[in-house]
Amino acid sequence: MRSLIDILDFSAEEINELIDNANDMIAHPERYSEVCKGKKIATLFFEPSTRTRLSFEAAMLELGGSVIGFSEAQSSSASKGESVSDTAKVISCYADIIAMRHPREGAPLVAANAASIPVINAGDGGHNHPTQTLADLLTISREKGRLTDLTIGFCGDLKFGRTVHSLISALSRYTGIRVILISPEELALPSYIKRDVMEKNGMSYTQTTDLEAVMPELDVLYMTRVQKERFFNEEDYLRLKDSYILTNQKLKNAKSDLCIMHPLPRVNEISVAIDEDPRACYFKQVLNGKHVRKALIVKLLKEAGTI
Ligand code: NCD
Repeated sequence: MRSLIDILDFSAEEINELIDNANDMIAHPERYSEVCKGKKIATLFFEPSTRTRLSFEAAMLELGGSVIGFSEAQSSSASKGESVSDTAKVISCYADIIAMRHPREGAPLVAANAASIPVINAGDGGHNHPTQTLADLLTISREKGRLTDLTIGFCGDLKFGRTVHSLISALSRYTGIRVILISPEELALPSYIKRDVMEKNGMSYTQTTDLEAVMPELDVLYMTRVQKERFFNEEDYLRLKDSYILTNQKLKNAKSDLCIMHPLPRVNEISVAIDEDPRACYFKQVLNGKHVRKALIVKLLKEAGTI
């Protein structure tokens, strides 16, 4: 059974095809309004979410399907001690596809091994978030017209930010990508990603703590929230939370066609004044996320022979 747990579960060709299909869904939503008629997605969210859960649900509804699920671990049998595998087996009797978010790294993989329906990782701890990556790739390709030959700055919490980890993995397969890692030292990208993803694939990268110094070089700036829920002590969080706040002043030397991204939720990382700047792409990212999740649901249900 085909699932999406890690973005590298899909080949670069498959990702390009998903992007093409999502673009077609954006252009002609009416053509897809009955594709998943009679089918159900189960959204199993053991961790808070607004965008990811509701975008999966909106995606399935726009495909003519329906939705079941829960949005808090407390309201599910996990609070009684049920294992992720058992939950996955049970839900396989009710739904056609699962989208799961879990605070524990690897939980969606455990679910996929037990389920008899496709499982989509909707975020596992500080590990991966492959569907945000699909939204990000669709956004970059729509805004920049390409996924190659780009200088991309990742700024903020690169240690715990799972969206950063998945997007860097995906980008390691495109040519001419230069990554600039901008973070306080304590929130630097984990060395396993530098070694096993970037160095292994010959991806060029540099590290700095100074956002303004590298601003003129960037084609894409990917801002992130400091991941409060993954800190072991509040003091460290409070010290680091406002490390980077993007303001109009800091954009002074930026390219005129810079693409400013953020997976959201935003806390303080981007001044609201920037929302009016045509380079702000983070709300477009949200909309793109819904469309690419539609394309993903259709792909996995087709491969499972469900539609
Ligand atoms: C991200 C996540 O959950 O990892 N949010 C999202 O799904 N768009 C980013 C975050 O929470 O900071």
